[in-house]
Amino acid sequence: EKVKVVAPATLSNLGSGFDVFGMALSEPFDIIEARKTSEPGVIIESVEGWGAEVITLDAALNSTGVAAAEVLKKSNADFGIAFNIKKGFRPGSGIGSSGASAAGGAVAANLLLKNKLPPRDIVACAAESERVTSGSFHADNVGPCVLGGFTVIRCYEPLELKKITPPKNLGVVVVMPSFTVKTLDARTVIPKQVKLSDMIYEVGNASSLVLGMCSGDVDLIGKSMTDIVVEPSRSKLNPGLMDAKKAAIEAGAAGSFLGGSGPCVIAIFDNSLTDGKPILDAMLDSYKRANIAVDKTWIT
Ligand code: HSE
Repeated sequence: EKVKVVAPATLSNLGSGFDVFGMALSEPFDIIEARKTSEPGVIIESVEGWGAEVITLDAALNSTGVAAAEVLKKSNADFGIAFNIKKGFRPGSGIGSSGASAAGGAVAANLLLKNKLPPRDIVACAAESERVTSGSFHADNVGPCVLGGFTVIRCYEPLELKKITPPKNLGVVVVMPSFTVKTLDARTVIPKQVKLSDMIYEVGNASSLVLGMCSGDVDLIGKSMTDIVVEPSRSKLNPGLMDAKKAAIEAGAAGSFLGGSGPCVIAIFDNSLTDGKPILDAMLDSYKRANIAVDKTWIT
């Protein structure tokens, strides 16, 4: 018995929602193939595609392997799984590469179990995999990867997520510089404490962003992506970030933010007003001026 899962890239944080907000993209994506084995346990038979050379085949350390093993354990499964993984985007991208592989592994395992576990548990199993590979239990990539759309993590303990369908006219530009950032490193530079005035600022923006998602107000979403706590602390790991964001806004983006821990920089726009190309061009110009190579871009 075999299943095939398409696991999309995801935006996390969206500025003001550190570890809380996430949104699924339509591309790029990983393709995870899973086959039931009579031998218990998880094996990773192959990893191909973008960045495959840095991904371990050791199932105990591989994002897909860890997530699937969690699902099998939680459901007391009496079988094992062999995986073949095709990476559509590289690790260290800031658009949920490990999250996609983890979520894909958890969903595939659950499909082989005839969907025995509810979606919330699948997200939790995939987030456990994020803990192993990035050192922190964060579900803001795996949440939207499993559920689709825009997700809010209301609470981590116990895990509770809410899903909102984003407005149809919400366009997204993704620019991926060619350097990589490890989430593990990017989590060591963030402040351990937050001033009350900063907390007030973040809560105001985060709640307004959700309001924008619910009411279909792309301008409000964009304006509310401002983050004065986490993103500035990561700018030293992400050269060109501030200028690329500024260029995006000047070219008409509603908002711009650092994708996860970086290096992808994201801009959002109203796709009933523009196709996003002028925004992408402005961001690319900004990286060119800074002499920073860009690997790939998407407009979705
Ligand atoms: N919320 C996480 C972070 C996402 O920013 O560290 C990492 O992909």
